[in-house]
Amino acid sequence: MPRHLLNITDLSMEEIDELMDQADDIMKTPEKYQDCMRHKKLATLFFEPSTRTRLSFEAAMMELGGNVLGFSEASSSSATKGESVCDTVRTVACYADIIAMRHPKEGAPMAAASVCPVPIINAGDGGHNHPTQTLTDLLTIRKEKGRLNQLVVGLCGDLQFGRTVHSLMSAMCRYKSIRFVLISPKELSVPEYLRENLQRDKVSFTEVERLEDVIGTLDILYMTRVQRERFFNEADYVRLKDSYILDTEKMAMARKDLCVMHPLPRVNEISRSVDSDPRACYFKQMLYGKFIREALLMKLLEVKA
Ligand code: ASP
Ligand code: CP
Repeated sequence: MPRHLLNITDLSMEEIDELMDQADDIMKTPEKYQDCMRHKKLATLFFEPSTRTRLSFEAAMMELGGNVLGFSEASSSSATKGESVCDTVRTVACYADIIAMRHPKEGAPMAAASVCPVPIINAGDGGHNHPTQTLTDLLTIRKEKGRLNQLVVGLCGDLQFGRTVHSLMSAMCRYKSIRFVLISPKELSVPEYLRENLQRDKVSFTEVERLEDVIGTLDILYMTRVQRERFFNEADYVRLKDSYILDTEKMAMARKDLCVMHPLPRVNEISRSVDSDPRACYFKQMLYGKFIREALLMKLLEVKA
């Protein structure tokens, strides 16, 4: 049975530590790794748009000496002729050693994994999960704060549909002394199952609507985009889209060692004037994504340097 990555909790905390150590080593000594994926192929099957995830996976495979194939939109695949996701991955598994897949339907990568003889990586499934973004986020937090325990983590914006938030919460719940501050309009608050998980695991959290009221208490501020593509009604999106805009005025209320993160792409939720603030970590975050994905590809294909 191949090892898939569908949810972040498919990896133990020890395995996540090892991946982060491996990513650090790849960053330090890339030349050691440049041939380790020779003759291996990664297929990127993106049924939904992406810039960072697809291209960082492809760059990761190339930097390890491997090759890539795939598609960046469903319309250029036989999905348009009515082929199922399961038949698609059965096919692609004949041509590639590992598959990274993004799909608008929640659970699609899980269904695909049930029939697929090669590892499947969930690169984002609808409004559900995005585990490789979480690996990127954890590596960023470890590098910027030097720890993953004892943190006050503010998650701000679209907590209802933001899959990166869902995966990050599931991951961070497992560390010690984490307190979540969930900042959203009521209509975009976290799904009930996540709130129940926090209660069950006795993880401390508060839910608020105003960023100004809490920004000064945070170690991490994780901003998110309102997920337009998940709304049924454009008028609701227009009403909610600019609920939060992080600007220099709000940054002035924050701690000197705040770490501002965002999975990107951003729309208006972080003003450009914040980019030059040393506390803005979102561009570093996307860079780390490539290295942690290199480490993940090596782990799932059981390849050593
Ligand atoms: N790029 C992230 C995702 O695909 C976040 C976003 O699109 O807002 O979930
Ligand atoms: N963070 C992220 O998943 O970005 P893309 O949607 O551009 O892949």
